[in-house]
Amino acid sequence: MRIDLIAGARPNFMKIAAIIRALDAHRAAGGPLRYRLVHTGQHYDDRMSASFFTQLGIPTPDVNLEVGSGTHAEQTAGIMTGYERLLRDDPSALCLVVGDVTSTMACAIVAQKMLVPVAHVEGGIRSGDWTMPEEINRLVTDAITDRFFTTSADANENLRRAGVPEARIHFVGNTMIDTLLVNLPRLVAPACWTEFGLTDKGYFILTLHRPSNVDSADGLETLLRSIAAAVRGLPVILPVHPRTAAILETMRDLPSNLRLIEAQPYLQFNYLVRSAKAVITDSGGVTEEATVLGVPCLTLRTTTERPETVTIGTNVLLGTDPAAIGPALETLFAGHWKKGGIPELWDGRAGERIVASLEMWLARPA
Ligand code: UD1
Repeated sequence: MRIDLIAGARPNFMKIAAIIRALDAHRAAGGPLRYRLVHTGQHYDDRMSASFFTQLGIPTPDVNLEVGSGTHAEQTAGIMTGYERLLRDDPSALCLVVGDVTSTMACAIVAQKMLVPVAHVEGGIRSGDWTMPEEINRLVTDAITDRFFTTSADANENLRRAGVPEARIHFVGNTMIDTLLVNLPRLVAPACWTEFGLTDKGYFILTLHRPSNVDSADGLETLLRSIAAAVRGLPVILPVHPRTAAILETMRDLPSNLRLIEAQPYLQFNYLVRSAKAVITDSGGVTEEATVLGVPCLTLRTTTERPETVTIGTNVLLGTDPAAIGPALETLFAGHWKKGGIPELWDGRAGERIVASLEMWLARPA
């Protein structure tokens, strides 16, 4: 009973790591499930991919489709062609996809068309914003998913509203948080900690990569200046995503308290998050990690597919207008940021629940 585990881009790797840990434990206990790890090659740099495999103990992929960079259509087509060939030559019993990247959607389509059932980890989340490529990936993937493994009550509700029968919705918790909790004791300070003389709660961490924030040089520059001006002189550490790097290279005279560093490996990045005064981000996954670490989080987006990070956690949605940053940071510096709690089932055991559910399902498919 072999399952294909699909991993393609950076935010997939921490989720897959938790599932592999649970599948390895299941096998060691004599369980029947096996897996084939398929890397699509959507992310391929050491800093975007290999470092996560090394740090999180993910085995070398059994197959790498090596799709590389391209437009969304080019990447989708390349992944679909490669995965179709793989399934035709050597089919698996199930295709398990995680998250909302292009690889998630492309492999789900191929599998379902070849009559291989699809399980979607992190199914059901919705931002409602069709300008985000991830939202299209979520909608398409969930339209053809057999079994949904969900992270939140909101995701369950979205699926019910779309007419998904209750028996196919499995509320298991959050694999990204499984990986965070197990790695907390292993977090390690990056080189910039001593280089910039950083201290606990004495700096901000900023991540930006959404096209809406980084694809216009003028807009990005205004955003960076507004942030740097509102942090009362504290350093703002920006680990640079490749998409953002290209546009930052065109800018001169960035504020002196803005410190650019390379994209960080997992253990170093989350060390920086845990010790930061606050996180400023346009990512989704980072808002979940900040919530669990109890670190204030300011999200530079108008919507979120993870509303529990706002209603329960430490996250506040600021929108994309730089004018909102100053007042939010006033609240933070005044010590009035909300405390935040931990969403239901974000307890480090999602991988285990997924494996138990898969075992029952594959032994006796509905
Ligand atoms: C992808 C995901 C996004 C996720 C993000 C995390 C989709 C639609 N988007 O967006 O949900 O939050 O990953 O990083 O799947 N590049 C490199 N090295 C790499 C990978 C990419 O230099 O290893 C370059 C590409 O050539 C491209 C840019 O980075 O210029 C963007 O990469 P791409 O994979 O297209 O999408 P992301 O913006 O990273």
